[in-house]
Amino acid sequence: MKRLKNRIALVTGAGTMNGGLGNGKATAIRLAQEGATICALDIHMEAAEQTCQQVRTHGGTALAVAADVTNEDQMASAIEACLNAFGRIDILQNNVGILRAGGALDTSVSDWDLMTQVNMKAVFLPTKHVLPHLIEQGGGVVTNVSSIAGLRYLGTPYIGYNATKGSIISFTRNLAAEVAPHGIRANAILPGFIDTPMARNITEQNTDDPDTIDWDTLDQQRAARIPLGRVGTPWDVANAAVFLASDEASYITGTEITVDGGVSCRV
Ligand SMILES: NC(=O)c1ccc[n+]([C@@H]2O[C@H](COP(=O)([O-])OP(=O)(O)OC[C@H]3O[C@@H](n4cnc5c(N)ncnc54)[C@H](O)[C@@H]3O)[C@@H](O)[C@H]2O)c1
Repeated sequence: MKRLKNRIALVTGAGTMNGGLGNGKATAIRLAQEGATICALDIHMEAAEQTCQQVRTHGGTALAVAADVTNEDQMASAIEACLNAFGRIDILQNNVGILRAGGALDTSVSDWDLMTQVNMKAVFLPTKHVLPHLIEQGGGVVTNVSSIAGLRYLGTPYIGYNATKGSIISFTRNLAAEVAPHGIRANAILPGFIDTPMARNITEQNTDDPDTIDWDTLDQQRAARIPLGRVGTPWDVANAAVFLASDEASYITGTEITVDGGVSCRV
């Protein structure tokens, strides 16, 4: 029995750079495997369409929508497109997030503004525009992708990213309290070190000569720092998203699931 049969899921940031596998793409595919119909939203239409093709390959139904989650008009139109195509939205997976490296001293004001603009609006705007429909339907699920970086310093100065990811935890708890009377649940997923193109891109940005990166050695070093002994995959994040969206999580709201192999227990 598929756990999400007859549910419609809107996943933001559902594409992945360079055609690889990111958290949003894996989540769209896993939700579809559990029976959900997918509205795959990304700022890059081609990336969203690639995800939809993979969903269809797995036997699912999907619509690609291009929108910038920080643009209110675009978000409203995207949600309208999803409703026009499928009639309702049951699951909102707010997955968009960006990172610019730096501590308080060296983060530029423009990078700070960009991270607060994107990471915080990425949960606020889609939620604001989907909520009226969930309320009208009498229930639904919102899952926000934060990070264990939102809990504490992890050894690299990412102050803007960590602060905005921390704020997503607070946003989620407040949201859960606000919408629980409408039968809507809101939770956050806190991934740890997940092997995605974005994560590799950040490593390259932090290295003087990216061509010299020995990925095998780096992966082994990272795995050694993780209690479960391996770096996470986007499927690990996607599986948590499936659980939180499912009725198995029907009494779970206003909380966080870390998907980090135990890292946050140790650092
Ligand atoms: N990869 C990790 O190790 C890791 C760890 C913790 C948390 N996360 C979080 O997981 C989420 C996804 O990360 P990922 O590594 O899969 O990233 P990714 O860059 O591979 O995927 C993010 C997608 O979001 C899209 N996007 C970016 N800005 C957008 C915007 N304004 N509007 C619409 N779409 C936009 C991009 O085009 C991309 O397809 C992020 O919120 C990230 O902070 C990742």
